[in-house]
Amino acid sequence: MKITRRKLIQGGLSLSALGGLALLKPSDLGAGHSQYFEGLSQAIKQAELTRPTLIIDKQKLDHNIASLKRRIGQSYDYRMVVKSLPSIPLLQHIANQTSSQRFMVFNEQFLLKIIEHFERADVLLGKPLPALGAKKILEQSSQAKGSAIRWLVDSPERLENYRDLAQQRQQVLRLNLEIDVGLHRGGFSSEADFVSALGVIKSSPFLEFDGLMGYEPHIVKIPGDEKAHLTDVLDRYHSYIDLAKSGLGEAFPQRPIFNTAGSPTYQLHAGLGAGQSQCTELSAGSCLVKPSDFDLPSLDDHVPAAFIATPVLKALDKTEIPGVPGLGKLMAWWNPNLQRSLFTYGGNWKATPVSPQGLRYNPVYGRSSNQEMINSSHANPLAMNDWVFLRPTQSEAVFQQFGDIAVYDGDLLTERWPVFS
Ligand SMILES: Cc1ncc(COP(=O)(O)O)c(C=O)c1O
Repeated sequence: MKITRRKLIQGGLSLSALGGLALLKPSDLGAGHSQYFEGLSQAIKQAELTRPTLIIDKQKLDHNIASLKRRIGQSYDYRMVVKSLPSIPLLQHIANQTSSQRFMVFNEQFLLKIIEHFERADVLLGKPLPALGAKKILEQSSQAKGSAIRWLVDSPERLENYRDLAQQRQQVLRLNLEIDVGLHRGGFSSEADFVSALGVIKSSPFLEFDGLMGYEPHIVKIPGDEKAHLTDVLDRYHSYIDLAKSGLGEAFPQRPIFNTAGSPTYQLHAGLGAGQSQCTELSAGSCLVKPSDFDLPSLDDHVPAAFIATPVLKALDKTEIPGVPGLGKLMAWWNPNLQRSLFTYGGNWKATPVSPQGLRYNPVYGRSSNQEMINSSHANPLAMNDWVFLRPTQSEAVFQQFGDIAVYDGDLLTERWPVFS
């Protein structure tokens, strides 16, 4: 047979295409649990858990609390973000370790729980509550009357609502004004509105100016230099502080609350030199349990401390797709990480599988909140009654989906911490 130059070139091209395909073919990432998750599995089996459970590793939580304390030092007060840590014993543990009684709450229910449990609670609303909600709280809760509640006001209209409420009840209300420092999620953004709000507060015998709240997670999310964004945020913040000082005169409080930050940015504030910020306190919650949305360079010294554990109900050594015979096999031929099918108890949470390594959601089968299919390679040894671990992408809302949190001390599950219902 005569091999022409053309055929040679064609053959060469096909070989390199095959080589390219081989490079694209996913490799087998399957394995058993790491030592850490094997230990956690044993603790779960010993505790005879049977249902999907949220686990907090107390040593890792304490590591994160220590990082936060070290970073914040004496420069700022620390405020716990309740929606990201929605459990009284969890908050109590953090309050004990940080010696803080400051809480940021986002709804009536959480506010009531906090003031019922923490006698000395100092509560700042993290989002404005309709004045009707504030009215109900003040009517219902005897604690609310004596507690330090800092109501958040974001606009001239809401200020009017709170002024009327205070007037009606003949009760002094402390108002913290939300300012827009660049996030553009509402709050005062016009100097004129802000100055006239100060005037309304000053002229009412029932309103007290408490301070400001300016939240700024965009600093680490938008392109550009974080330090420059922080400077920009603080310039805006400081200009509102100056307006408040000049607008209120003698009515400017002795100890104002100038709240800022959240998990993604608290370390940037904490790293500023003396005199660079007039903010008085930093809020943070999520970073203490570090869900995966918080895998940020600004939180490098925090570690994941919360996991979802769910039992394997069914472990099949194949993958089948309904209605398309052979497709599962073909997918598994291409991607060995789709060879086995583990059906877990529940699923479809805001979370990603983390152990054993090499777990994959099937790209075709679909998700399920009842029995979720997670694929793995044959190198994954999990069988029925073993446990799969996932890492929540966020703690807010997710923590409340599993009943009491199980607390892991590195050896055993030692406590159960109820979550807010
Ligand atoms: C006003 C405010 N402050 C702080 C935070 C930070 O919470 P975390 O530290 O859990 O991100 C949030 C989160 O949404 C917020 O809305």
